[in-house]
Amino acid sequence: MRGLRVEPAPNGHAGWVIDALGIVLTRSPETPLTQHLYRALRGWVQEGRLVNGQQLPSSRLLARELGLGRNTVIAAFDQLIAEGFLETRHGAGTFVADLTFGELAAEACNAGSGRNQTGALPALSRRGEQLLLRSGTGAGRHPAFAPGVPALDRFPREIWQRLLRRHVQRMPSAWMDYQTQGGVPALREALSDYLRLSRSVRCRPEQVLVVQGAQQGFELIARMLGDSGDRVWIEEPGYGGAQACFASAGFEMVPVPVDDEGMDIAAAPHGKAQAAPRLIYVTPSHQYPSGVTMSLARRLALLEAAERHDAWVIEDDYDSEFRYGQRPIAALQGLVADPRVIYVGTLSKVMYPGMRLGYLVLPESLIEPFRRVNARLHREGQYAVQAALAEFISCGQFSRHISRMRECYRGRQARLREALAPAVAQGLRLSEGLAGMHLVAWLDRHEDESALVAAAEPQGIGLSPLSHYYLQPPGRPGLVLGYAGADDTEIERAGSWLANEWLKLTGRTG
Ligand SMILES: Cc1ncc(COP(=O)(O)O)c(C=O)c1O
Repeated sequence: MRGLRVEPAPNGHAGWVIDALGIVLTRSPETPLTQHLYRALRGWVQEGRLVNGQQLPSSRLLARELGLGRNTVIAAFDQLIAEGFLETRHGAGTFVADLTFGELAAEACNAGSGRNQTGALPALSRRGEQLLLRSGTGAGRHPAFAPGVPALDRFPREIWQRLLRRHVQRMPSAWMDYQTQGGVPALREALSDYLRLSRSVRCRPEQVLVVQGAQQGFELIARMLGDSGDRVWIEEPGYGGAQACFASAGFEMVPVPVDDEGMDIAAAPHGKAQAAPRLIYVTPSHQYPSGVTMSLARRLALLEAAERHDAWVIEDDYDSEFRYGQRPIAALQGLVADPRVIYVGTLSKVMYPGMRLGYLVLPESLIEPFRRVNARLHREGQYAVQAALAEFISCGQFSRHISRMRECYRGRQARLREALAPAVAQGLRLSEGLAGMHLVAWLDRHEDESALVAAAEPQGIGLSPLSHYYLQPPGRPGLVLGYAGADDTEIERAGSWLANEWLKLTGRTG
């Protein structure tokens, strides 16, 4: 193993920074690498590990050694220079600024770093550190192109507020107590009817466990069905929320490549030497983020592999309601009798993410253990909201809202395609967009990906780099462009900006 470099390196810079960054930098879809880099360097200055006047390795060297785009490094340096942590000396390089932290200045710095009042860094566990690196900053997201955000401006607020008021007023006092039923019975029934009819899920109301969002559902599944060190096969590229959850549960994540037919089961590790997976996480209706639909042959191969390995499949069906010009694809769970599948649904896309409601459809044998442990570990709640939702579904508002949103998203995707057309005419490749709330734009070079992401930020445009959705670097360069949550004006502005920027960057003319 390569030993850590001792500082300073022969040419005077703090050489250990390269090794240390190599250890702490993690790719996550939510947080751009620039942010990780910025946070790590700022933390070391504040902790005094990087001292006044110390020279940093050049952006070129850091980019080369860490396999990053140079613009990613430059953007992090620029931010630290703007905030006064670093300074450039003409012709000499980048240095830690001459900082004398007065009490007030130190407090101001610490406020953003998560330190406590005594100035000590909180002692996070290794798991906590890993999770922090996989988590966004929580800073405001831009409407264009945030993936996964629905059209909040089109949500029928008045009807919903009326229902909420009614159910809060009628709320039996039992609902104010601790609950252990697995959710409001009327909601479990309404969801079960909806899933049977619209998604071909094999389901009785008793199988539905209401949870606080899909993410919490993944957490429960991971805790209940796997032990630390177990393996989970996970789509590559894939959903960062699921990756964070499996990492925190101590799973060994095995990335299985996705192609035009979805997760390529044949490319998963096999043979005696390879431990079998305990869980297999997939988004078969609309793979996140590539957008492909898993073929029937692959679905059958997946179910067969789950049987063979005694593994459970987690079917994350997060946005399958939105298909354009294509009939909805039936759920994997309903394909055969008694499959080893746990179906996970969310209300974050069809209603709104702040609702924090989702559900699991459990095989008979898991109903009771999951209900009891969920009530113990996560507690149940929001029964008045659940009751309002049950009525929203049963009175037909839910399906009306879904079909309106389908039309809305079809239109928003068309606006985005129009805005990007000058670049597409010159070779920019976009995903098919037959479903969902985002498109993928594939890029040829990682440098283009980081340059576009860095240039978008000051424009108030949030670009999600495709390569960050990969567990194994370097991933494929591209951009994940959410279009559902922004109105036409915003999409046109951001889309035209992106088309122009791409044309400039690639030296093509529109
Ligand atoms: C692939 C995928 N699954 C699930 C979810 C929904 O998660 P939650 O219900 O926790 O909001 C999202 C949200 O962005 C997602 O992108």
